[in-house]
Amino acid sequence: MTTLVRGARQLLTLRGDSRPRRGAAMRELGIVANGAALIKDGVIVDAGPARRIEKLPAARRAREIDAAGRVVMPGFVDSHTHLVFGRPRLGDYEMRLAGASYAEIAAAGGGILSSMKAVRGMPAAQLEAQARASLAAMARHGTTTLEAKSGYALDEAGELKTLRVLARLNGHPLDIVPTYLGAHIVPPEYRGKPDAYIDWMAAEMMPQIRRRKLARFVDVYCDDGAFTIEQSRRYLEHARRLGFGLKIHAEQFAHMGAARLAVELEAASADHLEQAGDEDIRALAQSNTIATLLPGSVFHLGLRTYAPARALIEAGAAVALATDFNPGTSPTYSMQMVLSLACTEMRMSPAEAITAGTINGAHALRVSDRAGSLEPGKQGNLLLLDASDYRELPYYFGANNVHMTIKTPCPEQS
Ligand code: NIG
Ligand code: FE
Repeated sequence: MTTLVRGARQLLTLRGDSRPRRGAAMRELGIVANGAALIKDGVIVDAGPARRIEKLPAARRAREIDAAGRVVMPGFVDSHTHLVFGRPRLGDYEMRLAGASYAEIAAAGGGILSSMKAVRGMPAAQLEAQARASLAAMARHGTTTLEAKSGYALDEAGELKTLRVLARLNGHPLDIVPTYLGAHIVPPEYRGKPDAYIDWMAAEMMPQIRRRKLARFVDVYCDDGAFTIEQSRRYLEHARRLGFGLKIHAEQFAHMGAARLAVELEAASADHLEQAGDEDIRALAQSNTIATLLPGSVFHLGLRTYAPARALIEAGAAVALATDFNPGTSPTYSMQMVLSLACTEMRMSPAEAITAGTINGAHALRVSDRAGSLEPGKQGNLLLLDASDYRELPYYFGANNVHMTIKTPCPEQS
């Protein structure tokens, strides 16, 4: 099966070297005017000027998709989501709008704990239906690869149930990179005994998740009311020893030192960073840890402090953007909305935001060998935008500017 996508007024290839994009490189989208892309058996043969691509031998027998003057770009890589949560928290939302804080809502029985009760109690089929509907909405909004975390059950049966739902959904049709977020909050069974909970996760959960290949990453929520820096370190060191990649919810509400812990442990990413300071920015800039920013959660919570995106980019950190899709702080399917927030609220340029939502997201998931750009050998995952200039993407905010999402199977799964 060969497909030729032709007629792109702007083809955003995002071509470049194999490293995460930093500084000025974040503004280079590898734009080809009048571009085309040739995809064979799900893999990009080549993407570039139409006059060259259309002459390739395989293009002759190809099925054609006419972009008709639209922008064509790689599918979004949403590198931070809490996909499986059962049901939305609409009561929490209303309470917060009436003035209650995130902590007050949690104290009143809402928050992560209420999602925990919902997920524990739901049959896998029901969780799968919720996640499947969410994935369909993400696909319509242009996401083709996403990370998805467990962390709303916290007990053995529920976390394995969540991770198995993710394994079943992977590739149908979006590619899912699964993460174990056992250390989201301390569950009621271990109230007052966070260290015992960590010991249990390290001894009982992580080895079997690893053995069954149910997660590629392990994540921790390091914050007031969640896990301390020492607890996070111990938990992540266990995960690293078992061969997991590491991620940290870092400096979201309280400044904990988690960004520097991420750098020290060579985590794949440090996510959130709203409270990150100059030292954190410097450390991230000198590391290979991706600074993943989640402005959807700041927006939805009605807060004012966004992560210091400009300072991070100017210092040379590799910045990614993701939705943080979850029922408490960021119920959005839309990477497009995240890009609009990144531009308007964090002063990222449209080009930087697109880099952050594609190739740098792929680096945060360590799938940059197959996703995040339109280059030979990568998956044929691409978007046709209802736009003739890429800057329209963040500019027309709150709308779905994706005309078509093209998703081909991940080679590993086919
Ligand atoms: O990334 N901050 C911790 N975890 C999520 C929110 C989880 C929830 O409220 O359900 C986040 O914002
Ligand atoms: Fe999160």
